[in-house]
Amino acid sequence: MRQSFQYIALMSATLLLASCGGGGADKAAEGSAAKTEETTTAAAPAAAAPAAATSAAAPTADSTDTLDGTTLASLTPDAAHGKAVFAQCKACHAIEAGKNMVGPSLAGVVGRAAGSIAGFSYSNANKTSGITWSPEKLFQYLEKPARVVPGTKMAFAGLPKAQDRADVIAYLKAPN
Ligand code: HEC
Repeated sequence: MRQSFQYIALMSATLLLASCGGGGADKAAEGSAAKTEETTTAAAPAAAAPAAATSAAAPTADSTDTLDGTTLASLTPDAAHGKAVFAQCKACHAIEAGKNMVGPSLAGVVGRAAGSIAGFSYSNANKTSGITWSPEKLFQYLEKPARVVPGTKMAFAGLPKAQDRADVIAYLKAPN
């Protein structure tokens, strides 16, 4: 009698374990199903992105609209700070005339036609952009160069702070 009671106790413990294990497996299956769903949902916007990128065409050569909605005229530029901002450009650009590096010399760039430094090997995108680097156009360009000149070989993400752009343009106008 005592032995059979022990047996029953053991059996029910085993059953309990088995049912727990089963529950665990179900949960795991649920988890992976949820994951699959997540992956599918995440993939959808990614697939839609190229279409969005295409519809957001580059601004025309004389447009000066910015992504952040700021205008150069609304800011008070600080050329001294612009010189500090220019440190980010120095890896590729010299301010001295005639000195081309990875990028063309930026001496006298304000007011100059894009792609006009003789002897510098520009991308077609830049050369044929039809842009004149007015202060306002530079302000737009420097926010996100690849948006304004799609296909540019200037590998620089941009200056997200409007004040930094205004400041560096003031420095480019009158370098010291
Ligand atoms: C990683 C290198 C790199 C950095 C950093 C960089 N540039 Fe450039 N930049 C280039 C290259 C390369 C070109 C030529 C683009 C082309 O031909 O498509 C260029 C072109 C330009 C042009 C157009 C010049 C012309 O004659 O048409 C301007 C203006 C300019 N850069 C300004 C800047 C400023 C201002 C900064 C800093 C805020 C900067 N760049 C940072 C590489 C760089």
